[in-house]
Amino acid sequence: MEGQESRHHFKEGDLAFLIDRKDRRYMVTLDAAKAFHTHVGLLQHAAIIGQEHGARLTTTLGQTLLVLPPTLEDYITNIPRATQVIYPKDLGAILVYGDIFPGARVVEAGLGSGALTIALLRGVGPQGAVFSYEVREDVVERARRNIQAVIPDVHNLTIRIGDVYQEIQERDLDRVVLDLPEPWQAIPQAAEALAPGGILLAFLPTALQVYELGMALQQHPSFDLVESREVIVRPWHVAHRSVRPVHRMVAHTGFIVTARRCAPTRAGAPPPPKDASSSNEDDADEP
Ligand SMILES: C[S@@+](CC[C@H](N)C(=O)[O-])C[C@H]1O[C@@H](n2cnc3c(N)ncnc32)[C@H](O)[C@@H]1O
Repeated sequence: MEGQESRHHFKEGDLAFLIDRKDRRYMVTLDAAKAFHTHVGLLQHAAIIGQEHGARLTTTLGQTLLVLPPTLEDYITNIPRATQVIYPKDLGAILVYGDIFPGARVVEAGLGSGALTIALLRGVGPQGAVFSYEVREDVVERARRNIQAVIPDVHNLTIRIGDVYQEIQERDLDRVVLDLPEPWQAIPQAAEALAPGGILLAFLPTALQVYELGMALQQHPSFDLVESREVIVRPWHVAHRSVRPVHRMVAHTGFIVTARRCAPTRAGAPPPPKDASSSNEDDADEP
């Protein structure tokens, strides 16, 4: 009972998300020797430590701050970043379209700021493994700090300084997840590294990249079921007598392309390119 209760109380070293009455949000790592300073007053971290999650505390200027542990979405949108990170809406879709399951063995590239790595580690769980490739040695320490702030035990994460266009060392992988500029250059390495039925997933900001990757996957003998999609999330404002979409939204982040590692087509011959222009294929999609 005591253990259960402490799971819902703040302790030294926890991340805390502080929200003022104008919905301004701040993230701090609790350290009993420190204080949180803002224009709405000062709050000692020691006053937060021991409080229940969701507590409302008063600053020295008499203002109320709501204190909660950050969700994955809160954390990712406030993460210290050395590179562009994948947004929460896309992280959720990547976990589902990439079918990231507990126990899976996953290669990702590049590591970047570690946002996607956090989502992958949560998806594979302690029995799974994530191998993260990164060409830039200078981003690794920050990414490691970002990841360990939310997942202190990273025994199942291996960071490799390396170029996936050249080599993927692992074999029998369940998934290969790519967030880098030219994923088509990693197709031969992914085909070697993936187990039969495995999934290659790439996140790509532009349609030209989707086209290039789509063509390369369709022409590769070991990949089939190539699919591309984007995720659009439109938040709504819900208040008394005003229920409508919010005025501003994130209109574009990127596209998600997936393909399955399958037996080679006839004697390893690539399938004929799928050219929709000579058929009604364009119109044949599901409603
Ligand atoms: C957009 S960032 C990845 C962001 C990351 N997914 C996140 O959510 O924080 C792309 C990263 O890929 C790395 N990269 C680019 N080409 C690479 C390659 N061939 N092999 C490994 N990493 C690569 C870059 O150095 C950069 O850090």
